Amino acid sequence: MDHFQYRNRALHCEGVPLSEIAETYGTPTFVYSQATLLDNLTELQMAFAPAKPIICYSVKANGNLSIARLMGEHGAGFDVTSGGEYYRALRAGPAGSKIAFAGVGKSDAEIRSALENGVYLFDVESEEELHTIGSIAKEMGRKAPVALRVNPDLPPKTHAKTDTSVKGVKFGLDIETILEVAAGVVGHPGLDVIGLHMHLGSPILKVEPYEQGCAKGLQLIAALRTMGHPVSVLNMGGGFGISYRQREALPASAFAKVILPAIAEAKCQLVLEPGRFIVGNAGVLLSRVVFNKETGGKRYIIQDAAMNDLIRPTLYDSFHRIWPVNPGAEVPECPTDFEAAIPGTVEQDVVGPVCESGDYLAKKRNLPAVRRGDLLATFSAGAYGMSMSSNYNARCRAAEVLVTGGTHRSIRRRERPEDLVACEEDCLK
Ligand code: LLP
Repeated sequence: MDHFQYRNRALHCEGVPLSEIAETYGTPTFVYSQATLLDNLTELQMAFAPAKPIICYSVKANGNLSIARLMGEHGAGFDVTSGGEYYRALRAGPAGSKIAFAGVGKSDAEIRSALENGVYLFDVESEEELHTIGSIAKEMGRKAPVALRVNPDLPPKTHAKTDTSVKGVKFGLDIETILEVAAGVVGHPGLDVIGLHMHLGSPILKVEPYEQGCAKGLQLIAALRTMGHPVSVLNMGGGFGISYRQREALPASAFAKVILPAIAEAKCQLVLEPGRFIVGNAGVLLSRVVFNKETGGKRYIIQDAAMNDLIRPTLYDSFHRIWPVNPGAEVPECPTDFEAAIPGTVEQDVVGPVCESGDYLAKKRNLPAVRRGDLLATFSAGAYGMSMSSNYNARCRAAEVLVTGGTHRSIRRRERPEDLVACEEDCLK
């Protein structure tokens, strides 16, 4: 359930009509609902409450400072994957927020800086990284807190580009060799191997991968303890799916049901790194129709959001529901099945102004006829929308607006052409 609802044929975010947001901030604009963000975080906190989990909000899903701060204020830590995300988490979070640092290519400078800033955990992805973190920490007179990230080698569970727990991906330590690697650092003066980490992939719409991952994790934890590593943390990563199409997502309680027993058995602190589950359906991308066009026997809606704003459809063939903000009387106010033939609609591609045939938000979508100037909402765009956006075609990044009840405020101003050249101007001869 989210707080984007149609009332009298007008899409509202909480108490605010989206047309008011478009008038105030222009388009394209990402619009987020604070109530939805907090509902989703609370759902996770409640579902996993028996384990008193540390919920590290995954900054890569949406690193906006105001959103990250909201997470921190409501008890979340952060999962980061670069020095830049670390910086965001430090700027956003309250002092002492727990930060887990994953990623296959942490630089020496990033490792040093994380240690200086009291990183909660490094999720370590290779043997060379483990030894590098150990030497840097030793040199600094510290012990680095480390969770070994395992690739548990599970069957495919999501899009190949975002499945991180099948054989042959770059993530984590192979399940066959992780214990050998761990044996090589028993008693290391710069390392405390205090955890096991696995992030299975994203988005995941089933509980079985977590169940299978937990089972493998329990065996590894026992073996790590036997060799002398004081493992007290099980980090199950993120990946919980959301409803993009209809109601396909599972509630947090379904995942808790398979993860909690493993935590009880392992007697470990549970860490989770959800991103999409919290912010995905808490945001829409608001855009305005520029032109209609018919060519090659197809109809196109050309609107002002593009692949540089939301790359997911073209990168992962992902589906985002799209519907007019103010649908006319001839179509349902809010259909429930966006893939069905909806009365009063015609098949159209929704594209943007970028110079690529891959620039689309939807293909062959049943949508009503729209006119120049009409507003569209692309739903479930809160995660991996703005955070994966680019300036391709020298397009200024969209604005971001946060709605709370009946009020709204800018949380990132729209970029201006001057921003696009700011890093180059001083280099002009
Ligand atoms: N933890 C780690 C180590 C991760 O690599 C990720 C996501 C997460 C947590 C958070 O996953 P989430 O709860 O948001 O599913 N750009 C793709 C998703 C890539 C996910 C990368 N890692 C997309 O738009 O679908």
